[in-house]
Amino acid sequence: MSFTRAAPLPGASFGSTVRLGNDAGETVAAAEREPKALVAALAEAKGLLLIQGMNGIADGPDLLIRLSRVFGPEVEDYRHTLTDLKSVHVSVPEILLVSNMAPVSKAPPRRPEPPFAADGLIPVQYPHRKGWHTDQSYRRPPPDISLFYAVTPSEKDTGQTLFANGILAYEALPAALKAKVDKLDGLHAQPGSGRSREAALAGRMPRAFAAHERSQRQPVVRTHPVTGERSLYLCEWGQMDWFEGPFVGMEPGPHGAGAALLDEIMAHLTERRFCYAHEWTQGDLLIWDNRCLVHAATWFDGDREGRLMWRTTVHGNPGAYYAGEKKSWIPAA
Ligand SMILES: [Fe+2]
Repeated sequence: MSFTRAAPLPGASFGSTVRLGNDAGETVAAAEREPKALVAALAEAKGLLLIQGMNGIADGPDLLIRLSRVFGPEVEDYRHTLTDLKSVHVSVPEILLVSNMAPVSKAPPRRPEPPFAADGLIPVQYPHRKGWHTDQSYRRPPPDISLFYAVTPSEKDTGQTLFANGILAYEALPAALKAKVDKLDGLHAQPGSGRSREAALAGRMPRAFAAHERSQRQPVVRTHPVTGERSLYLCEWGQMDWFEGPFVGMEPGPHGAGAALLDEIMAHLTERRFCYAHEWTQGDLLIWDNRCLVHAATWFDGDREGRLMWRTTVHGNPGAYYAGEKKSWIPAA
């Protein structure tokens, strides 16, 4: 494939910018001609690719679906996965709308306090920065890849998307901590399901769940199905189960030994040396591997501006660990 690459991404030690054509149509056609090349580029970049100038997707949303299919056999159709239809694109149901504008009306995350870190940059390290997660980790098998396209990004220096690399962070983990997490499972909960750390701290009682809504265990250390690399796989306040977890077999709850260990691992995983902050330009497309990266959204002034992003989610290669599993989130017939 004739494509150019620049790696790593600015200010980071992983990720790659790739260019496959002069516009979105050419790029997608090039990727389809040699689908393995882009998948290999993603693995080589340790899970993060940036393609710029994809503005043609705004008028041709099907291009985003075609590119998504290059990364796996199943692009999620959000009509069939218990997603609020307000957040689903009206004519292309594989596109999830992420926006503060109607009809989605999802407010941006709060600004961290203080808004800048000691080094003058926006904070990335947990717990100063909260909201770190990997997409849909509350499902088994979890998804592989997300594609995120900027239809209308927010103003410069706001509304960034932050990434932390679980492969690099695992490699750098002190031996004692590695031994502690190697065999451990986290318990992941769907945001909004009432099992967050805030809910547990406030003493609220979680409601009972149907089987398909239940929190799911996931290994804290995953083996990547393409590269064999091991990486940390964990979320924090909003996407772990803080009533029965965050870890299986450890003291549960927001004040237990499990909470202390989670705080220690997440602070390590999100050290700036493992992170990348993406400043969005209209037409940017990011492709990330949920199997080895966590990410977080940042604040923008939602009272003053409207931001619209499109996301697709690709499933199909979670690794041998999940072989033969039924989808946990689909209600039994
Ligand atoms: Fe996400």
